[in-house]
Amino acid sequence: MTSSHPTDLQGEVVVITGASRGLGRATAEAFGTRGARVVVNYRSNTEAAKEAVEVVEAAHDDAEAIAVQADVSDPEAIVELFERVDEAYGTVDVFVHNAAVTAFKPLTEVTAKDVSLTYDLCVTGFLLAAQHAIDRMDEDGRIIAVSANDSHTYMPLHGLLGSAKASLECLVRYLAVEQADNGIMVNAINPGILDKENYYASISEETKDAMDDLKRRTPKGDAVPPSAVAESIVTFAGPGTEWVTGEVLNVDGGFAAL
Ligand SMILES: NC(=O)c1ccc[n+]([C@@H]2O[C@H](COP(=O)([O-])OP(=O)(O)OC[C@H]3O[C@@H](n4cnc5c(N)ncnc54)[C@H](OP(=O)(O)O)[C@@H]3O)[C@@H](O)[C@H]2O)c1
Repeated sequence: MTSSHPTDLQGEVVVITGASRGLGRATAEAFGTRGARVVVNYRSNTEAAKEAVEVVEAAHDDAEAIAVQADVSDPEAIVELFERVDEAYGTVDVFVHNAAVTAFKPLTEVTAKDVSLTYDLCVTGFLLAAQHAIDRMDEDGRIIAVSANDSHTYMPLHGLLGSAKASLECLVRYLAVEQADNGIMVNAINPGILDKENYYASISEETKDAMDDLKRRTPKGDAVPPSAVAESIVTFAGPGTEWVTGEVLNVDGGFAAL
């Protein structure tokens, strides 16, 4: 199928961490509609990753995708991920760090293991993978990190993840300054609560009530469709943003403006 989207990103190599499901998959598809070549990274769900590859390849006649299993919280696995990228495509144009995990707990109950789980992927994983991506980028490369609204606003049980996302945004600003001269633009997207299939089935009643409250307080009145966030990520990667770097863009229906 050929999409009606502009094809400025046609043939670009886009590496997306955590692209088998959720926002990562929506982002992979959005790049696919532009005819990009997408590396769908995932941790363990091979079936979901295969489906994501099919979704990308169905999005545009010229779109390509490969699935690469790699635990991005493990520095050795990051090396292997980029070795696979080298074998398949030999370059990187866009790197999107989307994968995240955490333990949703009050801060008084957070363990050292919970901190490692969260920071190794959200913070260290971003930094190390971005280093590998930069090594393979020409001038005009793009790095986009997916943050979350818990980085700036209290959300129940999100203290650990919120602090990691705030660190991630700080790394984005520093990396943006360090890479500006090389023509590599580094930005972050900060989504509000995502409207994801099956999400409500997986959370406690307490969290559900908190999420409903956040949605009610969102000026647009609802959770954000992952496809809308994905389109903003693609915008950061496309033409017209050559002078945009070190930014954090809220895609949250106005939540951050309250
Ligand atoms: N959900 C929300 O409401 C919300 C709101 C604001 C921001 N965000 C942010 O948006 C991003 C995506 O969230 P989501 O809810 O769409 O995610 P999700 O549905 O939980 O999917 C997570 C993805 O990350 C992969 N992954 C997990 N651990 C990994 C690791 N160690 N190495 C490599 N890949 C790993 C998973 O792979 P497998 O399939 O193999 O497990 C999966 O592809 C995150 O950064 C999150 O913080 C989410």
